[in-house]
Amino acid sequence: MRKGSIAALLGLALIAGGVATAVALVPTWLPEDASQQAGRIAFTFWFVIAICIFIFAIVAAVMVYAVVKFRVREDDFEDGPPIHGHTGLEITWTIIPFVLVTSIAIVSAIVLSRNDAQAKDTLRVDVTAQQFEFTFSYPDAGNVTSPVLMLPKGRSVELYMRSLDVIHSVFVPEFSVKEDIVPGLVTQLHVTPTRLGTFPLECTELCGLGHSLMRSQAVVMEPAAFNSWLKKQEKGAAPSTTTSTTSTTSSTTPISPAQAGLMVFNQNGCSACHTLSAANATGKVGPDLDNLVSYARTAKQPLESFVHHSIVDPDAYIQPGYSKGVMPTNFGQVLTKEQLDHLVTFLVQSAQKSGNK
Ligand code: CUA
Repeated sequence: MRKGSIAALLGLALIAGGVATAVALVPTWLPEDASQQAGRIAFTFWFVIAICIFIFAIVAAVMVYAVVKFRVREDDFEDGPPIHGHTGLEITWTIIPFVLVTSIAIVSAIVLSRNDAQAKDTLRVDVTAQQFEFTFSYPDAGNVTSPVLMLPKGRSVELYMRSLDVIHSVFVPEFSVKEDIVPGLVTQLHVTPTRLGTFPLECTELCGLGHSLMRSQAVVMEPAAFNSWLKKQEKGAAPSTTTSTTSTTSSTTPISPAQAGLMVFNQNGCSACHTLSAANATGKVGPDLDNLVSYARTAKQPLESFVHHSIVDPDAYIQPGYSKGVMPTNFGQVLTKEQLDHLVTFLVQSAQKSGNK
């Protein structure tokens, strides 16, 4: 009789535990790890899940067993016998959760402290967030800036993050790490990439109209490739008198100013907010750049200088139906004069092509 009950409970626990394990393991819940931190966080996650499945199996088994076995007969209206506690049972259900919760706390504390531990050769990257773009700069390499987070594989990286306006938050799911960027503070985020590739980097704090479009990428490269990229950028960032096109292209074939302008457009996140058929951009936050010709007419300005002004001083003239203070006002400083000229050429040409709408 007693043996039968234990066997039944055990069977039920195995079934419940098996179902819960399948739900945990069969769908791919987490993205594939791409950083040391992600591996440790995944370990913590699965450690907690295993404990949860263990507890769930016990609770589900006892509950189902009790419902079936102690079901009241239809004509039975009597109360059950009174129970006055059970010291052994109470000690058991206090000690087991205490041990489990304490072990989770210890594992988490170890993972947190390891994840934040910087190596000696930690690479510093400064992150500037604003509505609605990220800018990454490398202070140890002549303040090279990039709209994409370029990282060497296997090296410890510390991000120092500032916001120019509201609260943003940076998250790369494959890295498993996330941190808010708060105006007035410099927040830090440590990551050691372990896998080559391009991963989505997104803002995860509702920060205004363009929040859902505030996205960039983290590109993890071989250290040698990263260093040569940095060197090339460093040269490109220095004021030069050459008429080379944008510095991020490694191609040696000459490209037209309009093509260079398209690259500037794509690399600076313009498509997040603007529609422009020449760039396959479909952003809806700011004015539709296919209509630049008619906007310039409304503003009573020549097309080219209108486009130029609208980039460097976006709040000076606001197209009816749009708001001040949405477009970043620092493109005049972020872009080199050459990049700005290319961008203007590209926008003017594609606006003229898309007709006098
Ligand atoms: Cu920045 Cu959301």
